[in-house]
Amino acid sequence: MYETSFHHIDISGKTFLVTGGAGFIGSNLVEYLLKYRAKKVIVMDNLATGFEENLKPYLSLPNFEFFKGDICEINDCHKACAGVDHVFHDAALGSVPRSIKNPIATHNVNATGFINVLIAARDAKVKRVVYASSSSVYGDSKVMPKVEDKIGKQLSPYAVSKMTNELYGEIFAKTYQMEIVGLRYFNIFGPRQNPQGEYAAAIPLFINALLKGESPMINGDGEQTRDFTFVENAVQANIKAMFADLKNAQGDVFNIAVGERVSLNQLIDILRKLIGTEVKQTHRADRPGDVRDSLADISKAKTILGYDPKVKIEDGLSNTLEWFKKQYSY
Ligand SMILES: NC(=O)c1ccc[n+]([C@@H]2O[C@H](COP(=O)([O-])OP(=O)(O)OC[C@H]3O[C@@H](n4cnc5c(N)ncnc54)[C@H](O)[C@@H]3O)[C@@H](O)[C@H]2O)c1
Repeated sequence: MYETSFHHIDISGKTFLVTGGAGFIGSNLVEYLLKYRAKKVIVMDNLATGFEENLKPYLSLPNFEFFKGDICEINDCHKACAGVDHVFHDAALGSVPRSIKNPIATHNVNATGFINVLIAARDAKVKRVVYASSSSVYGDSKVMPKVEDKIGKQLSPYAVSKMTNELYGEIFAKTYQMEIVGLRYFNIFGPRQNPQGEYAAAIPLFINALLKGESPMINGDGEQTRDFTFVENAVQANIKAMFADLKNAQGDVFNIAVGERVSLNQLIDILRKLIGTEVKQTHRADRPGDVRDSLADISKAKTILGYDPKVKIEDGLSNTLEWFKKQYSY
């Protein structure tokens, strides 16, 4: 993967902090930065949902540093940001159901932790912060496809925490003259996404079940749709958002997706074909806080960032399947 650099800017003289770099999206970003010879990459992660194992290939590199720190601790954030040029902020507690069960934990990490990172980035005079927002901010908006300036009411504490990021992102950028860019990720999937635990995402759960010959469990009728996005596209968006020559880096936000949607039933069909299995899905009740349909208009990211999601769902799923087979030896 990452056969070609996404951006003409040479990153070899630059120092990066990736918060949440031991997690799924963060570790894929770290892989790219090190492959393209960043001067230094620092990961700050408290391993709440991430794994040191995801960073294993890099731990011995002289230009890599893993700092086991907590974004809820401002001193950890100051320490991590010292001497850094660029911050990718991907640390958070994901999952809508987790936020419904424990809204305080989600708020502490996703909202308060975010301000801590921004304050530390401001004080360290970081050039730009690119942070993870989420398509969940669209909430109950019926507009399809989703366009950045038309959001609805958020449907979960998780969505509120991400909306809070966007509000603080804009206010910090304007108040402290910082460069801050938000990426609204739409259902990212790929290698290193965790299939285990109560809050695992749909694709790793489905892959795990089908590879074991078990029936994947779908919440609801399976006709809900998502704009599933392979992680390499998200990495590309991060690099482009960090180095694009932006007129408005003051808290602007961009949809990051493919601009195509599939239903969960269609997704299972694709996986079944790729794996070569006849195992059928099982349906259970709808999940509270979930949106019915999700599809992004990605023209803003295309026009302003030069974002060009090259990997479509079938290729992304096939790549992800290969990783799961190697990793978990089914
Ligand atoms: N995966 C998706 O589809 C998706 C969609 C929308 C938004 N996002 C957002 O993208 C970001 C990355 O998500 P991911 O899917 O890679 O999740 P992930 O859980 O794999 O990664 C998050 C990382 O943050 C770390 N972390 C959590 N709390 C922390 C704390 N207090 N201090 C330091 N580190 C902490 C975790 O240990 C983990 O390594 C998150 O902000 C998430 O909300 C993801």
